[in-house]
Amino acid sequence: MAQEVSEKQMKITARGVDVFYGEAQAIKQVDVDIEDHAVTAFIGPSGCGKSTFLRCLNRMNDTIDICRVTGDIRLDGNDIYDPSIDPVQLRAQVGMVFQKPNPFPKSIYDNVAYGPRIHGLTGSKSELDGLVEWALTRAGLWNEVKDRLDKPGTGLSGGQQQRLCIARAIAVQPTVILMDEPCSALDPIATATIEELIDELRTKFSIVIVTHSMQQAARVSQKTAFFHLGDLVEFGDTNDIFTAPQDERTQNYITGRIG
Ligand SMILES: Nc1ncnc2c1ncn2[C@@H]1O[C@H](COP(=O)(O)OP(=O)(O)O)[C@@H](O)[C@H]1O
Ligand SMILES: [Mg+2]
Repeated sequence: MAQEVSEKQMKITARGVDVFYGEAQAIKQVDVDIEDHAVTAFIGPSGCGKSTFLRCLNRMNDTIDICRVTGDIRLDGNDIYDPSIDPVQLRAQVGMVFQKPNPFPKSIYDNVAYGPRIHGLTGSKSELDGLVEWALTRAGLWNEVKDRLDKPGTGLSGGQQQRLCIARAIAVQPTVILMDEPCSALDPIATATIEELIDELRTKFSIVIVTHSMQQAARVSQKTAFFHLGDLVEFGDTNDIFTAPQDERTQNYITGRIG
């Protein structure tokens, strides 16, 4: 795949990445650059490997026994599969938000305070309070929950729960946030709120979002990668991918002929 060399700062670079589940190959020789302060969307038909590749970026595939990842993936130039890397520390730097909101069965406050506590990020209670407020504010949830921080996170609406999960992810000060179909369990209004939030978050973070919605990819991302049967078929500016796709498979997908 031909790729332009860009002057822009790359947060993550992946080269020649293969992923296998047992004998079955799910990702084939993928090269991709993830920019800082931008939203990169992964699109493509169900089963093409979007989630599998996303999970390579913070070593979540390590938790799947039969899964094997090869190739080179770097965060700020450092090999994330180097034996010296602690996956738990890596996942604090490269946070993840899942399809179904999954708050802990704890208070709203403790959901957000959990990560900073285990990573020892704050010294005092007032420092932790400040960090919880910062993360909830950044996730666009503070005003809705500031008077009930001691109530269970699971009592919030679906959209609020997903924003709580975003607050939980950003509380440990990541630089990259991975989102795997973060709106697929949400109604259109909650989806619009999360999309606005994603646009706001990119001022501080590098964001990678898997979405089955091409409209969503077009609305929220600056870069789009189209996957098909484990291949990264096409990668470029979102506008170019949707208006002038180079590959016939991309054309077929965005016009609804495959998917
Ligand atoms: N835990 C797993 N064990 C075995 N095969 C898997 C596992 N997860 C995904 N796969 C397979 O890998 C391929 C890519 O799946 P996935 O990454 O979930 O695709 P997408 O997110 O694009 O829908 C599919 O063929 C899927 O069946
Ligand atoms: Mg998936």
